[in-house]
Amino acid sequence: MKPILAITILISSLSTLYAYHPEGMKVYKKECMICHGSPFRMAESRKQYDWEQMMFQSSRPILDLHKNEKEAIERLGSNWTDKKQENLFKFLIGNAKDSGAVPGCDGNYCGP
Ligand code: HEC
Repeated sequence: MKPILAITILISSLSTLYAYHPEGMKVYKKECMICHGSPFRMAESRKQYDWEQMMFQSSRPILDLHKNEKEAIERLGSNWTDKKQENLFKFLIGNAKDSGAVPGCDGNYCGP
């Protein structure tokens, strides 16, 4: 199997499995919400494909995105882990613009 196909299959199973992802939501609330606001709004700001591209483009895409944002790097840099990143992207992909997920209330977060 070609690697790109394997990744596509992996991602499509990820996005159906993790339409809602509490661990990823927790990461977002802890690490990102202070600057970016609503987790669902952030997830919806891109399509699944765009989050996937971002996720595979480097080993630390979140840190790359913020490399010119000193405050963000200071907050995220020292304790950013692969596990957090994996959970975060599962949440973002599962709730992307074209995911079909409907934002709502649950134990972790309430609102659009
Ligand atoms: C200290 C504040 C801060 C924190 C914490 C932070 N960011 Fe950012 N982020 C910024 C700023 C400032 C920019 C660049 C300006 C912009 O484009 O919004 C940015 C840019 C981005 C972008 C690209 C611009 C866009 O289209 O929105 C994404 C995606 C992003 N951040 C996601 C995240 C995620 C996910 C987290 C949590 C892991 C996070 N950020 C944590 C401040 C922060």
